[in-house]
Amino acid sequence: MDIHDILSLSQFNKSSLLDLFKATNKIKKLEKGYKYSNFLKNKLVALLFFEPSSRTFSSFSAAVKKLGGQTIEYQNPTQTSSVVKGETLEDTVKIIENYVDAIVIRHSETDALERAAQAVAIPVINAGNGIGEHPTQALLDLFTIYDKFKTLDNLTGLIAGDLLNGRTVHSLIKGLGLFKHITLYLLSPRELVLTKEQIRDYSSQNITLIPIKTVNEIPKKCDFWYWTRVQKERFKSLADYKKIKDSFILTKKLLDQKGNNQMIIMHPLPRINEIEIEIDNDSRSVYLTKQIKNGLYIRMALLSLLFGKI
Ligand code: NCD
Repeated sequence: MDIHDILSLSQFNKSSLLDLFKATNKIKKLEKGYKYSNFLKNKLVALLFFEPSSRTFSSFSAAVKKLGGQTIEYQNPTQTSSVVKGETLEDTVKIIENYVDAIVIRHSETDALERAAQAVAIPVINAGNGIGEHPTQALLDLFTIYDKFKTLDNLTGLIAGDLLNGRTVHSLIKGLGLFKHITLYLLSPRELVLTKEQIRDYSSQNITLIPIKTVNEIPKKCDFWYWTRVQKERFKSLADYKKIKDSFILTKKLLDQKGNNQMIIMHPLPRINEIEIEIDNDSRSVYLTKQIKNGLYIRMALLSLLFGKI
């Protein structure tokens, strides 16, 4: 895998994704005995999170440390760093570049990651850029699906929730589009459908996108359901958010009606109320278990590849 910055799923092709999955399986094997614990020896990675995060932040932090590296962590730099005084993102990253070997950034502006990557020579990793993309989340999602079905070809999935603002969805669709005969049913309130440009960009010979408006249209044959929350922070008015936030809830009843035994149930988290708690213990649910663990493994593999250690 010859990748310097990790900004978008568009940088990957089928073979680089499969290489990453191989490296991820290797990391899983090395876990016994912590045989990876010097892969990032003497490396320092900055985590610069301008937006709230639980899993992405802590799994990157854990990944670096498990590999023997160290982190400098900025959570909420708009309150705690020179950004308060008006420092530009470009200046901030140029300063940090003097201390560290790579920077992981989450930012509310869609163009922020490109700008940061332009400003510095060290690798920049996108941990979420506004309503744009969230490549490392999609990589762990793709790995989770691959791990279950041992392929990413010939799959049918359902993606539900906020397709317009959900950056994890954007990266996931791009990633799936690299494989053959993918069919995705897209369930969302009409205010939160993908834009025409997105549909055009994501469509390819490999992928068929089928927007649906009601749960009745979900086919029984899906290999995975990928549910997402309505992205409250992207709405101009709270009233607009409240009107549509509960449009689609994954209930036990819906799962009984439209699910099948082989499928998996995914969610990038945080879950607000769009999946009933009762579903958590269903053996098909992976959002609180495998997906989380895979997030750690995939980030460890990515960092190891980035520093040429695997
Ligand atoms: C997602 C994000 O930040 O885009 N969270 C995550 O990192 N898994 C999803 C979300 O916030 O809804």
